[in-house]
Amino acid sequence: MSVKRPTILITAGTRPEAIKVAPLIRILRERNFATVRILATAQHRELLDQVFRFFDLTPDIDLNIMQPGQSLAELTSRLLSAVDCTLDTEKPDMVLAQGDTTTVMTTALACFYRKIPFGHIEAGLRTNDRHYPFPEEINRVIVSRLGDLHFAPTTLSRDNLVREGVNSETVFVTGNTVIDALLWAAGRADLPRDYEPTDGRRLVLVTAHRRENFGEPLRNICAAISDLVEARDVEVLYPVHPNPNVVQTTNEMLSGLPGVRLVPPLDYPHFVAAMKAAHLILTDSGGVQEEAPSLGKPVLVLRDETERPEGVAGGTSILVGPHRERIVSKALELLDNPAAYDQIARASNPYGDGRASERIADILSKVLMAR
Ligand code: UD1
Ligand code: UDP
Repeated sequence: MSVKRPTILITAGTRPEAIKVAPLIRILRERNFATVRILATAQHRELLDQVFRFFDLTPDIDLNIMQPGQSLAELTSRLLSAVDCTLDTEKPDMVLAQGDTTTVMTTALACFYRKIPFGHIEAGLRTNDRHYPFPEEINRVIVSRLGDLHFAPTTLSRDNLVREGVNSETVFVTGNTVIDALLWAAGRADLPRDYEPTDGRRLVLVTAHRRENFGEPLRNICAAISDLVEARDVEVLYPVHPNPNVVQTTNEMLSGLPGVRLVPPLDYPHFVAAMKAAHLILTDSGGVQEEAPSLGKPVLVLRDETERPEGVAGGTSILVGPHRERIVSKALELLDNPAAYDQIARASNPYGDGRASERIADILSKVLMAR
């Protein structure tokens, strides 16, 4: 009697989700104990396509959800219906999603309604402030209540889940799959020549896209960048996130400023090359906080709180918030004080060792074979 191969459906909606599920998809397909199907919700369009292209993955289903300037409520309702229809036709044995976006929250809810097991990758991150990051903190809490398997990147994230009452037998510490992706991408591209700093100047890499930073906070960040290029002979490379709230403010405040290069989002291997080339990184991104320690780069986190406190404790990330003076003074300290810089640059990466996808695949194989 032949046994039906289980099907795992893996969703990705935005750039970081695709980066973080790509190495797992590749390993699951190599191991071949289940059929893997990729569901792109396309909550992001160009950014998602960029990543799938690089990892040589083609979505099996594409919901093409993104609309310019989408609101959270309309995005949520469109995603919930569309993911539910997909579950109805695909009938997967297990669904996986990564992170804390609206794609992940709606996928977990749609699975719960249909009683389909849901596995959450990068589970257990918390700030314990429901408005920060918004809406991601509440997305994470909802997903942890709905999920069946929880792949926590660190022991701290596992402890967060267990403290909230999640059954500890369903929580596994695996490391973060972003490090698997980073190690795979590193060295596959060089920083484009046009983006190299002139005359041996040091490069400062900037990204910012969080909703909490829209408006005044992002203006403060831009003002700090402007102060920095005036104070020191550095060059800023700033790949601008396509969210219209980000594009408008950034262009208004920084376009044409000498020493500042505003560029479209870089594809993943070029962005990794930019991180490697950078002396210092300023960001409000989650993924970049996790990647930078593997490359020995200090990160100034443009947020007041982080769900990734391991990097702060380990000394690789410094919380400066979206505060003009704090950003400038910490950046100058790191630019001017080689001893302080070297100490941070030598710290090890608390988020992973490049084998998280292997660990997740091992667990999934045991769970699915036991059914
Ligand atoms: C989303 C996630 C956030 C994640 C971020 C990663 C939610 C609520 N937010 O934020 O958690 O950190 O992605 O980048 O899930 N846009 C494009 N092209 C793209 C991508 C975005 O034009 O490829 C523009 C569109 O106008 C879109 C807008 O950006 O409506 C906002 O996209 P959305 O996914 O709602 O929010 P992000 O700010 O990207
Ligand atoms: N990234 C990229 N190109 C860019 C900026 C970022 O490939 O121009 C990568 C980065 O290396 C990280 C991920 O995108 O892996 C982070 O995505 P983002 O900052 O959009 O989301 P977050 O991590 O904050 O959810």
